[in-house]
This record gives sequence, structure tokens and C-alpha cells, in this order.
Amino acid sequence: MLTDNFPREKLAQTPTPIEKLDRLSEILGGPEIWIKRDDQTGLAFGGNKARQLEYYFGEAVLEKANVILITGAVQSNYMRTAVAAARKLGMDVEVQLEERVKGQPAEYYQSGNPYLMKLMGAKFHHYPAGEDEEGADDALYQRAEELKSKGKTPYVIPLAEKHQPIGSLGYVDCAEELLSQNLKMDAIITASGSGTTHAGLLAGLRIKGEKVPVYGICVRRDKESQRARIKKKTQIVIDMLPGDHQIRDEDIHLFDDCLAPGYGHLNEFVTEAIKLAAEEEGLLVDPVYTGKALAGMMKLIREGKFSAQEKILFMHTGGTPALFGYPSLVS
Ligand SMILES: Cc1ncc(COP(=O)(O)O)c(C=O)c1O
Repeated sequence: MLTDNFPREKLAQTPTPIEKLDRLSEILGGPEIWIKRDDQTGLAFGGNKARQLEYYFGEAVLEKANVILITGAVQSNYMRTAVAAARKLGMDVEVQLEERVKGQPAEYYQSGNPYLMKLMGAKFHHYPAGEDEEGADDALYQRAEELKSKGKTPYVIPLAEKHQPIGSLGYVDCAEELLSQNLKMDAIITASGSGTTHAGLLAGLRIKGEKVPVYGICVRRDKESQRARIKKKTQIVIDMLPGDHQIRDEDIHLFDDCLAPGYGHLNEFVTEAIKLAAEEEGLLVDPVYTGKALAGMMKLIREGKFSAQEKILFMHTGGTPALFGYPSLVS
């Protein structure tokens, strides 16, 4: 594997299956839609973060860490998956909940991911801002110092862009896995948030010489800010690996028509996509990431982006526990 030289702790159940969405393909009347079930990676409801965390936990185990520190939104799937991984490896875990999504109902704070993290015995901290990645990391590093002074060995999983994106290596692995699954795809569609998944996939595919376009559906930032982030991150990931490939502007495809009113908020497209997947395929997608990504994919199909002869692959990156934090989806 391309990532063989990095410390890794096996956490995700892989390879994940690929399935065809017959009914959705027919209803939307465009390309054949296939789905990569990365919502089935295991680890307390699974998702893309299980693959990413293998590399952080690889380092943590090497450093003999006994407490994991991580920051994220209240309904963070990343934190929930990290809590599960820490527990499985016998480590303590502290999560820092950021105030990223305002005006949510009580269920947002009590159900879904925060509920599961409580169930797994995580210690909770709170951070008042939602758009201050460096400040949120600093708070974790300060807490790490406190823990060290008490004789603990903490490991921080950082958020800010300036840190090496080792989580993307999990999606370099996924790119190799996809290629080994031998499905000829004309496009891949994924949620693009921190960009860790998008950058890793793109890096892995291009290093392997695969030119399939990867469409990132923006869930956090508009497409121009996300473009700069993905280009930079993908090149960093490529440079961490053997070879000397250069990522080009034409490699970056982003779509932000379904982002408004912003991160973690529903809109009519997302609500429609979540309900359509549930009612027609018995498939659950989440309100923050995969529902938005599916809504974006549906909009691209309806705009005629793909022909009826093409096959497209939707990355189901998980996140389903957050459904319980959004009770307004069902009246
Ligand atoms: C379910 C789910 N899908 C997609 C994403 C976006 O992935 P990335 O942050 O790697 O862009 C996240 C991020 O938290 C997520 O939880």
C-alpha cells in the first residue's frame, strides 16, 4: 500500500461494500448511481472518520498515550468515533464541544452523537466559538499540559489546517481499495468538510494514475475557500507519499449550491434528499454531511452533469447518529 510507512492502528472494517442504488437511479433518471458504504466501517456506527483515525491512533499507540483529546461540533461524528477507538484501545478520552451550530433544539445537545459519547464515558469540555480551529486546538494543548503535570500521557488529535493531514492517509487507502474493487466509475461524489476525505481520495487516485473526477460537495465553506483548502491539502498528502505528482486546478471539483444557510443547518434540498433516500432505498443519510452531499449529487444530476450512460459513485461517509439530533425531519 502507498501508506505502508506510516504508523497505523487497524480500526475500520474494510473493504466496505459497493452497491447499486436501483430505485434512486431510476427516479432521478440520470446516470447509474452506486454507493460506497463507508458508513459500515464499524466502530460505534462507523463512517469516514474510522479510516482517518487509524493514523492518529497509530501515532498515539506508538507514543504510549493513555488519554486522547479531540475537538469538534456538538454532533461531531469524528469525536464519537475517536471515543469508540480510544475505549477499544483502553484509553481515556476527553472531547471538546464547540458551539458551531446555533439555534438548535434540545435534542441536538442531548441525542445522537453527544448521547453516544456520554454512554462511552467520555469527559466533556466546552469551547464557546465554532469557527476558531487554532483556538480550539490551543485549548486542547493546554489541557494536555495539565494532564501531563498529573502524570498522564495525552495525545491531541488536532483540527487546524496547519497540522499534517495524516487522517487523509485513510482515504489514500480507500482510493486503493476502490481501484481493487474494479468498478469503472465516471465520477465520485463525496462530502467535503475539513477536506481530509476529499484530499486523501484525490491524492490516492491520482498517484495511482486514475483520472476519475472527484466532486466535493461543500458542507462547511463556500467553494472558493474550499478550493484553496483542497488544492493545498491534496498536494501535502501527495508529498507525504512516494512519487512526485502535481495536483492541478482542473482536478478540483466543488459544488456549494446546497450549503446555505450553512454548516449543520438543513435546507429544502437536504431534507428532500434525506427523505428520498430513506423512503425509496431504506438508506439513512445524515443532516450535516451525507444528506448535503446527496442533495448536491441530486442537483448535479438534475442539471444534466452526467449522462444516462455514466456510472457515478456516492461516498456514504456515515454520520447517521446525528439524525437523532434533528427531530424536525419527521413531523
Ligand atoms: C459523516 C461525515 N461525512 C463527511 C465528513 C467530511 O469529511 P472531511 O472532514 O474529511 O471533509 C465528516 C466530517 O466530520 C463526517 O462526519
